[in-house]
Amino acid sequence: MREWSPHTEEKISILADYLRAFAQAAKSAPNRVYIDAFAGDTMNVLKTTGEQFPGSVESALSVEPAFTQMLLFERHQRRARSLRSLAGARQSTNVAVVEGDCNETMAESLESVPRQAPAFAFLDPDGMELEWRTIRLVANHKQGTGRNKVEMWVLLSTAGLVRMLGSNRDQAEQQRLPEKVARLYGARGPWEAVWNARLDGRIPPGDAKRAYLLLYMDRLADLGYKHLLARPIKNARNELYVMVFATDHPAGATIMKWAQEKDRVVHRAPSLFDVPERRPTYEDIHTGWREDFEIDLPDWEEYQW
Ligand SMILES: C[S@@+](CC[C@H](N)C(=O)[O-])C[C@H]1O[C@@H](n2cnc3c(N)ncnc32)[C@H](O)[C@@H]1O
Repeated sequence: MREWSPHTEEKISILADYLRAFAQAAKSAPNRVYIDAFAGDTMNVLKTTGEQFPGSVESALSVEPAFTQMLLFERHQRRARSLRSLAGARQSTNVAVVEGDCNETMAESLESVPRQAPAFAFLDPDGMELEWRTIRLVANHKQGTGRNKVEMWVLLSTAGLVRMLGSNRDQAEQQRLPEKVARLYGARGPWEAVWNARLDGRIPPGDAKRAYLLLYMDRLADLGYKHLLARPIKNARNELYVMVFATDHPAGATIMKWAQEKDRVVHRAPSLFDVPERRPTYEDIHTGWREDFEIDLPDWEEYQW
């Protein structure tokens, strides 16, 4: 069981709402697929109240009608074992738990996923572990079928990017951090220009953080996703990460917008009553952003895997 802050519970409850709606919308399809590339622990606990709340897998296992196939990836041996036990306890025979690094195991695992099926991928790393080659494999899985792309909800650690690249180029390079970021974007170029502008003091940290996100969204758009929704996740003071939803189906975008804007209980402190809070309305920050950005950005230079 892992301890989390209330924003994680909020993230999972948005996911649970979305998955319920997805399962309903896709109920007439013979197959419905759920992919969780960073499946985590089966149960989570809230730091603020000590209450337990389900992880992403538990939430996905609970939808009706059930997913006909679930692919769960987890690097941590004990967590992978718990995920297998959970699937066994639910007598879910359609669940595969793939132990190891999802960036290495995704290609082979996807071979079992029918290319016609509606599919949703939750890509929820702790930090910078998700590589672009994995996103691209998932995004292109149904290429050439005429079907909608696999939908995905991806965590981008914007605060982590700013912190990791830091303000000392030599130090970052010694630790091979730019290489890590290149694997995250699957490319070099624009994010390096943003980093340089930050190192020279031409842009403030907040602008750099926002640009790292918008560049990531550009990369998703380049994969053919027509609808991109960014939901910043904050603690009491700062943005920690952003959840980016990508779909090429307008209905998917409508449902995710509804799930994100819905009033929600956020357990910030122990309390007697669960009072839902108003949640921020969706804001389109991506469309046309480059026109307003203060520095010129070069073309992407694809990473050679
Ligand atoms: C943020 S947690 C996932 C939380 C989970 N999705 C939930 O909602 O409860 C990230 C998980 O990914 C696992 N992980 C980290 N890097 C990984 C990798 N390269 N491949 C597979 N799993 C990884 C970690 O062990 C951790 O359990």
